[in-house]
Amino acid sequence: MKIAVFNCRPDERGLFEFYKQKYNIELAVTSETPTFENCSFVKGCQAVSIITTPVNRDLLQAWKEEGIQAVSTRTVGYDHINLEAAEELGIPVSNVSYTPHTVAEYTVMAILMTIRRMKTILTRYQVQDYSLTDVRGKELRNMTVGVVGTGKIGEQVIRNLSGFGCRILAHDPFPKDSLQGTVHYTNLEELWRECDILTFHTPASRETCHMVNHDTLRQMKKGVILINMARGSLIDTAALIEALDQGIVSAAALDVLEHESGIYYQDYKYAAVNHHDMAVLKTMPNVLMTPHTAFFTDEAVSDMIRCSIESCMAEVQGETDPGRIG
Ligand code: COI
Repeated sequence: MKIAVFNCRPDERGLFEFYKQKYNIELAVTSETPTFENCSFVKGCQAVSIITTPVNRDLLQAWKEEGIQAVSTRTVGYDHINLEAAEELGIPVSNVSYTPHTVAEYTVMAILMTIRRMKTILTRYQVQDYSLTDVRGKELRNMTVGVVGTGKIGEQVIRNLSGFGCRILAHDPFPKDSLQGTVHYTNLEELWRECDILTFHTPASRETCHMVNHDTLRQMKKGVILINMARGSLIDTAALIEALDQGIVSAAALDVLEHESGIYYQDYKYAAVNHHDMAVLKTMPNVLMTPHTAFFTDEAVSDMIRCSIESCMAEVQGETDPGRIG
């Protein structure tokens, strides 16, 4: 069988080669983003492996006409795929499952960097300013952390944080028995009211879109710290900027941002970036921003490629696909 691989990065090439040989399959690999215009790239393939770029109905239809039987995204999130259209066209879609430690560790790093004002310390160090003005931090053990979403990543964040001695509250529509005793589950209102730090680990959906907005920000503890390593759409960015200006939010760490698609993972060193909110947030010393890199470890990338190939193979060979989402 043959799989069309889109948006293949140089660091993924060796792993694709490894799994191609291991599973004795063929691959058509490109660094290009899938578009309607390049849909003929998939000719001769039975499945497609993609990342976070949008896949709409027209593209799915075109792939179907080229003979595609399955689509796998090498990501956990799948909000970029029109699942309804895929279902109507009879194309199964799968996501991957990779080590939750990668994002969980990055989250803890972001929390610590934020409460220790690391952006300011590092920026100052570059210009030989070794003064202590405005860089005094706080200890995590004296803080209350709220974890929104206790799926695999949220659960691991809780486990990692539990060694720091902080109080941990959590919210999830499906509380986990395995976390009883480690975390106190409560409603969002209590989380907004009680927490010094809020970290978000929920998927992007209609329900979670802008869950941090003018109204919810007003309910949060003054000086709250927000950590978003999940999806940009969870936070109304304009409302966040206003809350940062007003001191309602004292700091934020954002690995994701609304409308990041087409910007992150590209080199804009010598080009203008047309993203007003990003430009504003970037200038703030209390906002730590990274380009959606929380997932990026050797272990996770290997898991992503293996899972994606295994899903494509299972779907095309009519076997049970553990990654099937729709
Ligand atoms: C995901 O797996 O959903 C991610 O956010 C990482 C991806 C952008 C490579």
